[in-house]
Amino acid sequence: MAGLAEDDEKERMTLMTHEQPDVWGRHAAKYARFAAPFTGYIAQSLFLSVAGRLPREARILEIACGTGELARAALLHCLEERRTTGRCGGVVATDFSPGMVALAKKTLDALDAPDIARAEVQDGQALGFDSASFDAVFSAFGIFLFPDRHAGWREAARVLRPGGLLATAVWRGPEDNALARLQMAPVMSALPERVRSALPRPGWLDIASAEGLEKEVRAAGFVAPEVSVFNAVLTAPTPHAMWGMMRENPVSNSLLAACSDEEIAVIERSVLSAFEELAGGTDRPVRFDASCHFLIARRA
Ligand SMILES: C[S@@+](CC[C@H](N)C(=O)[O-])C[C@H]1O[C@@H](n2cnc3c(N)ncnc32)[C@H](O)[C@@H]1O
Repeated sequence: MAGLAEDDEKERMTLMTHEQPDVWGRHAAKYARFAAPFTGYIAQSLFLSVAGRLPREARILEIACGTGELARAALLHCLEERRTTGRCGGVVATDFSPGMVALAKKTLDALDAPDIARAEVQDGQALGFDSASFDAVFSAFGIFLFPDRHAGWREAARVLRPGGLLATAVWRGPEDNALARLQMAPVMSALPERVRSALPRPGWLDIASAEGLEKEVRAAGFVAPEVSVFNAVLTAPTPHAMWGMMRENPVSNSLLAACSDEEIAVIERSVLSAFEELAGGTDRPVRFDASCHFLIARRA
């Protein structure tokens, strides 16, 4: 039974992320407006948490870069190194969504350093880079949602040189993370029983705890993992804007795939009324406290 549930979850994640033409790309503009100011702050903080340990002229890779906020922080680091020493490494931002890569490219182009930074389409489960070609690999809320997460960690290890740094951000579970809890509660309570009871347990819950995350990256060839808690607040301008984001986001929207239009209308009412209560009105911002883990480890 456990095997079946795992297979169902893998299939749902694969459909959600890989088998529809650029589902993340279709969400990219809204992601850039509402999610990236929040996840971008977290991703830049993840980079800054590692920057002090980077070697000189570091070759830096970002996997599942989205709109390229972490890569931007990495490029600023390289530019400062070049200003002060005359030399620096470089940054490659990758994502499997052409729509996201187009936005990441714009983010990097704004810093006008095409000789040291580029964005390109790459599947994080099968990267087209030579082994040991990077000194540091980052992935903020990326590898954790791959259908084959183990392949994601293995590829990160493969392209890192021995001793190279991995840094990743992963959401904590609903009990420690009000964003996960408050966002999903009104959806789950309004989902028809036949849909709710058929939902597989989300695979990422296995790495929502520090212990689970450490165990998984160790198994992929990393050592000396350090996990810390990082908190941030997501602000959506209105309850309706937050619902719009959930309808477009491939992860939250996949829960509604088996619902009819009438059933979705019921869920929408449940979500809006819960969010309006949190916000204090239809035209007020709704804010969610969010909590994630940062993991920093070294390639064995
Ligand atoms: C939640 S977003 C995170 C984006 C960004 N890192 C951030 O923190 O804002 C997840 C990203 O993972 C990308 N993604 C999903 N599966 C992928 C895969 N197999 N390879 C590369 N990128 C993938 C999506 O296109 C999307 O940009």
